[in-house]
Amino acid sequence: MSNPTYFYLPFLMLLIVVHLLFINQNTATATVNNDMVPFIRKSCAVTEYPDTCVSVLEGDPRSRIATDLKNLTKISMDIVYEEAIGLKSLFIKAGENVTDPVLKMNIGSCIGEFETCSFHMKTYGIPSFENGDYADAISQVTYCIDCSSNCTDTGTKLFNEEIETLFNLSTDVLGLSSMVPSRTNM
Ligand SMILES: *[C@@H]1O[C@H](CO)[C@@H](O)[C@H](O)[C@H]1NC(C)=O
Ligand SMILES: *[C@@H]1O[C@H](CO)[C@@H](O)[C@H](O)[C@H]1NC(C)=O
Ligand SMILES: *[C@@H]1O[C@H](CO)[C@@H](O)[C@H](O)[C@H]1NC(C)=O
Ligand SMILES: *[C@@H]1O[C@H](CO)[C@@H](O)[C@H](O)[C@H]1NC(C)=O
Repeated sequence: MSNPTYFYLPFLMLLIVVHLLFINQNTATATVNNDMVPFIRKSCAVTEYPDTCVSVLEGDPRSRIATDLKNLTKISMDIVYEEAIGLKSLFIKAGENVTDPVLKMNIGSCIGEFETCSFHMKTYGIPSFENGDYADAISQVTYCIDCSSNCTDTGTKLFNEEIETLFNLSTDVLGLSSMVPSRTNM
């Protein structure tokens, strides 16, 4: 004969655990917006620029539904690539009617920098990540970090916010990638 108490006990305990987890999450995030995605918050917490990480990834429908770190990191790499393409277009447009030779040259450098970033992400970084070669993927992302600061160093003062977002996010991708369980790294 099974005692009903023993039968229900595991379910009761599970309920308590689930309840505690739920309460914990609610209190931990009570001060931030109610649109938060717990998995993104948790993953971004260990990155260097968690605020940028959270706001970019919670702002993108693809990352909002990611449920594992590998997917989240891959989506972050796609976003880095897209932001570089976007910045390249912004600088091309901004340079259209510029006649000042120094500004024209600096805008040209920035176009080249973001071309370098997007090229490295598309040609090597994202494919390497998909193949599980995280060491190479990480080294490709560093091009985007360097590109962003190189463009800022030209002093054009254009699109500072967008460039800083790319810089912060690329740095965060390094942090995210380093937590993805590795297959090929030793
Ligand atoms: C995560 O990645 C796997 C394999 O690439 C894919 O099948 C799955 O749909 C992805 N899930 C999400 C939520 O992105
Ligand atoms: C450059 O000049 C053209 C022609 O005057 C104009 O249509 C275009 O909007 C200008 N571009 C920018 C970025 O100001
Ligand atoms: C950034 O600038 C430095 C110094 O000019 C240069 O050596 C480096 O190749 C540049 N990096 C990228 C990714 O363009
Ligand atoms: C980048 O990170 C720094 C440090 O957290 C932060 O002050 C800055 O606002 C971030 N920039 C952007 C554009 O998110």
